[in-house]
Amino acid sequence: MQEIFDQANAVLEEIKISNPATAEEVEQFRIKYLGTKSVLKDLFGAMGKLPNEKKKEYGQLMNALKDAAQQKFDGLAQSLEQGKSSNKEIPDLTAPGYDVPLGTRHPMSVIKNKMIDIFSRIGFTVAEGPEIEDDWHNFTALNLPADHPARDMQDTFFLTEDKNWMLRTHTSSVQIRVMENQKPPMRYIFPGRVYRNETITARAHCTFHQVEGLYIDENVSFADLKQTIMYFAQEMFGRNVEVRFRPSFFPFTEPSAEMDISCFVCGQKGCPVCKYSGWVEIGGCGMVDPAVLENCKLDPKKYSGFAFGMGIERITMLNYRINNLRLFLENDVRFLKQFESAQ
Ligand code: PHE
Repeated sequence: MQEIFDQANAVLEEIKISNPATAEEVEQFRIKYLGTKSVLKDLFGAMGKLPNEKKKEYGQLMNALKDAAQQKFDGLAQSLEQGKSSNKEIPDLTAPGYDVPLGTRHPMSVIKNKMIDIFSRIGFTVAEGPEIEDDWHNFTALNLPADHPARDMQDTFFLTEDKNWMLRTHTSSVQIRVMENQKPPMRYIFPGRVYRNETITARAHCTFHQVEGLYIDENVSFADLKQTIMYFAQEMFGRNVEVRFRPSFFPFTEPSAEMDISCFVCGQKGCPVCKYSGWVEIGGCGMVDPAVLENCKLDPKKYSGFAFGMGIERITMLNYRINNLRLFLENDVRFLKQFESAQ
C-alpha cells in the first residue's frame, strides 16, 4: 500500500523537476502527464486497491499531482508562445550596453558645488540646519529681539499663531545652531534654502538660496573677512574681479557691510546687469556682534569672528548671464539641459 503512495510521490517529484524546453518536449510532457493514456490515469486506477480510510489522503495527493502537471504545462506553453512572438535570436551578451541618458545638474547646484569647493580649499566645511526654525535661532539670538524694526527687512512666513515657528528667512540661523554646539575655532559654510513672503518677479522670489559663512576664532579681524571674500570672488569670477565693501547694517554683525563685485559683464562700462553702476551686489557680511557670541555662550573678550551671506541665485545668474529668476523653478528642460552634465 505504501508503494502506491511512493509511486505517486515519485511522479510528483518528476513533474516538478522536469524541464522540457522545445515544443516537442513540451508535447511529450503533455502526453505523459495529461494525455488520455497519462501515467496519472494508472495512478488513479490504483485508488481501488487502497483501504477506505486511506482513500481520502490518496485522493488529495492525486489532485496535487494533476494540478502540478497542469500548472507546469500551462507555464511551459506560455513561455513557448512568448518565445514565438519575440525574436528567437539569442541576444549577444557580449555586445556593449546602451547609453543610459543622464540628466544635467541644475545650474544652481553647479554653482553651489563650485562655491563649496572654493571655500573648502581654505578650510571651510559644510554644515546645515533646518528650514523650519524657531524664533530664537532665526531672530532673537541674532540680536533681533521681538519688535525690533529690522525684523521687517525679512517678510516672514510664520507657521504658528504665536509666531514662534517660521520658515527661516536666512541661513544666519545656522550660525546660532553651530555656535551653540561647537567650540572655536569654527570655519563653516551653510548652503541652504530660505523663504520670504515676497511678490514673485524676475528678480525676487518667495524662496531662494544662500550660502552663509562663519569663522570664529581668537583674533579674527575684518581684514580676514575682506581677504576671504576677495579670494572667493576671484576664484569664482576670475582674477580681474574687484571687491567693494559698503557700510551697511545687520543686527547680528558690527560693523556690517554690503559686498559688491565689479561688473565683469560689461567690464564696468555700464550695462543692465549692474544697472549702469559698474558694481553688482553679492551679499551682506560683517564681524559677528558680541551680543550674538554671548547668546551662544562664547566669550566675546576671547573670541571674534566674521559672517557673510550670499544669494546663490544672484551668483548663478551672474555666472551664466541668466536674466530671469523664475527660470530656476520652472523645471523647463530646454533651460535646464544647457548646464553641466550630471555624468
Ligand atoms: N542674513 C543676511 C541676509 O539674509 C545676510 C548676512 C549674513 C549679513 C551674515 C551679515 C552676515 O540678508
